[in-house]
Amino acid sequence: MKHTDVKVLFSENAKFVNQSVTVCGWVRTWRDSKSIAFIELNDGTSLKNLQLVIEKDGMPENEVKPALVVGAALCVTGKFIPSERNGFELSAQKIQLLGACPQDYPLQKKHHTLEFLRTIPHLRPRTKYFEAVFAVRSRISFAIHNYFQTHNYKYVHTPIITGSDCEGAGEMFRVTTQSWNAKYKTENEYFAEDFFGAKAGLTVSGQLEGEIAAMGLGKIYTFGPTFRAEHSNTTRHAAEFWQIEPEVCFADLHDIIEIAEDFIKSIIKDVVENCPDEIAYFDERIEKGLKEKLSNVINSDFAKITYTQAVEVLKKSGKEFKFPVEWGSDLQTEHERYLTEEYYKKPVFVTDYPADIKAFYMKLNSDNKTVAATDLLVPGIGEIIGCSEREADSEKLKSAMLKRNMPLEAYTEYLDTRKYGSVPHSGFGLGLERIIMYITGVQNIRDTLLYPRTVGSL
Ligand code: 4AD
Ligand code: MG
Repeated sequence: MKHTDVKVLFSENAKFVNQSVTVCGWVRTWRDSKSIAFIELNDGTSLKNLQLVIEKDGMPENEVKPALVVGAALCVTGKFIPSERNGFELSAQKIQLLGACPQDYPLQKKHHTLEFLRTIPHLRPRTKYFEAVFAVRSRISFAIHNYFQTHNYKYVHTPIITGSDCEGAGEMFRVTTQSWNAKYKTENEYFAEDFFGAKAGLTVSGQLEGEIAAMGLGKIYTFGPTFRAEHSNTTRHAAEFWQIEPEVCFADLHDIIEIAEDFIKSIIKDVVENCPDEIAYFDERIEKGLKEKLSNVINSDFAKITYTQAVEVLKKSGKEFKFPVEWGSDLQTEHERYLTEEYYKKPVFVTDYPADIKAFYMKLNSDNKTVAATDLLVPGIGEIIGCSEREADSEKLKSAMLKRNMPLEAYTEYLDTRKYGSVPHSGFGLGLERIIMYITGVQNIRDTLLYPRTVGSL
């Protein structure tokens, strides 16, 4: 179907003005009067609708009437003309109905609540809100690839089905083709007869395989779906989310923190530059001052504080926290939010957490108590990045694994990376949906995913 994207009409308007053009799209709203009708048409390429002006005298009624319906799909030819109110509009000459839209179409009103829209995930991409969110999601993804590709990282595709629980938190979804049967005496017997002849699950992180790739390719990143059977029913947790995990050889914690900060600023800058309509819309509709917030993030340094110092700050805050703060216990969301929203009022890297509350692969500091790890916390959300220098020393790594009762024989390949030419290396994981929430102001992770998967909801 030969037609022009609405985005192109607006951005290259000089080329089209006073010419005949054809556009396709869906009716968002319409107005009718005796001699003239107006349609706001949207084709998904531009957040801004194209206004169609229909002089009813010159058009057959059987062409106009079926088009004046919210949700109807049209192909319209007309003259692209300047307009005082809209910049440009289309004076319609021919209207073809591509798909009628009956009265029970659920998106009749101009504004619907996000809760209602969550009940119709298959229709919400047709709303302005979700058109804007998915435009930003797409652009962020592009900016992420662009950043790594221009900094000599290789994009690697790590397996989705795996046998190892990278984070060791027991949150893996099982992958199996058989059901339990009384003939199996032990779990091992049961797994031995399963599809892979072993216990398998969906990956919680591509890091371990990413490290293996980095050990030859130098700098790599993964960008793919990860899965966690977390029972946290919050606005920030999804069972299926996308993670970006760079792994960098010859880099210590200090180096990777610098990379993470540069990376975050660079993708925010890209989105602000390339999605101005979407950011303006979010600023007006979701988070007042969003544009200014993003420009402050780009132009100022992120804060840094050690976990031990952060515990002191929290204790001295005079705040009544629901969970008490003690050295050795993990920071809760309320603590993270106090640090980033009230104390620093900007993104903050909390570094050097107690080894006991972090994963096995993190490098043990010389105090033998803390690890060279950091979480990046941002206002409004909390953690968006989990990061660490990896334990490159084979013996220390094995002892951290044994302490956690991990079966070393299941990790021989991973351990080989420390046996043959081990190097200092570091990496991080960014949750795609969380950075989308931060950049757009969207409050609920369910509104950043086409089909959110959360506990109790498929
Ligand atoms: O902090 P996490 O668990 O770190 C890792 O998985 C490391 N292997 C990363 C690495 O060093 N390569 O997860 C990383 C990030 C979190 O900071 C958060 O942004 C996001 O992934 N995340 C989730 N996002 C949405 N829903 C969930 N259930 C999430 N769990 C983690
Ligand atoms: Mg984490």
